[in-house]
Amino acid sequence: MAFVLVLYGTGEGQTERIAGHVADVIREHGHDVTLLHGDRIPADFSLAAYDGIVVGASIHLGRHQRYIREFAVENSALLEAMPSAFFSVSLSAAGRGTQREKARAVLEGFLEEVGWHPEVRAVVPGTLAYGQYGPMKRFVMKLIARRAGGATDTSRDHEYTDWEGVTRFTEAFLERLEG
Ligand SMILES: Cc1cc2nc3c(=O)[nH]c(=O)nc-3n(C[C@H](O)[C@H](O)[C@H](O)COP(=O)(O)O)c2cc1C
Repeated sequence: MAFVLVLYGTGEGQTERIAGHVADVIREHGHDVTLLHGDRIPADFSLAAYDGIVVGASIHLGRHQRYIREFAVENSALLEAMPSAFFSVSLSAAGRGTQREKARAVLEGFLEEVGWHPEVRAVVPGTLAYGQYGPMKRFVMKLIARRAGGATDTSRDHEYTDWEGVTRFTEAFLERLEG
């Protein structure tokens, strides 16, 4: 049994749900999992207590959460030394062609910036959470969605997450951890 940390950054909660699914799949393999919000790391936290790590972050205005970036920079040596995986949640990941390439470019740019080379990485389609946005954000997101080919019906949320894809991503990480 290994000790695994699943750390996430989120704005409206979708990355938290996806991290929860990742944690469930790892637990089903008999490992001990700690699920942690990247902005609520306890003072006595040490990454050295873990055998492997999965990090998830979402994209808002072209960037991942700053606290995830800071975590990756502060822990870069240990991150490089253990089995690790990173997933990036966004609307562009739900698109095709150029849209998806954009999501991939933001993910790769983030990893380059923080100097981390996880063996397993994925872009994961997120949610248009219209119900959680205020009027201004709803308006802007509707414009972005229209350009990106996403849903513009603001009367409900639209989830694009491919849960089976998230399971496959987690299994690829487990192969590294267990192999
Ligand atoms: C204010 C705001 C800005 C966003 N900016 C981007 C963006 O630049 N690119 C993108 O692909 N998705 C963007 N999104 C979509 C989010 O990445 C998507 O809703 C994702 O599911 C958010 O995950 P979270 O709930 O874990 O934060 C944005 C969403 C919001 C609310």
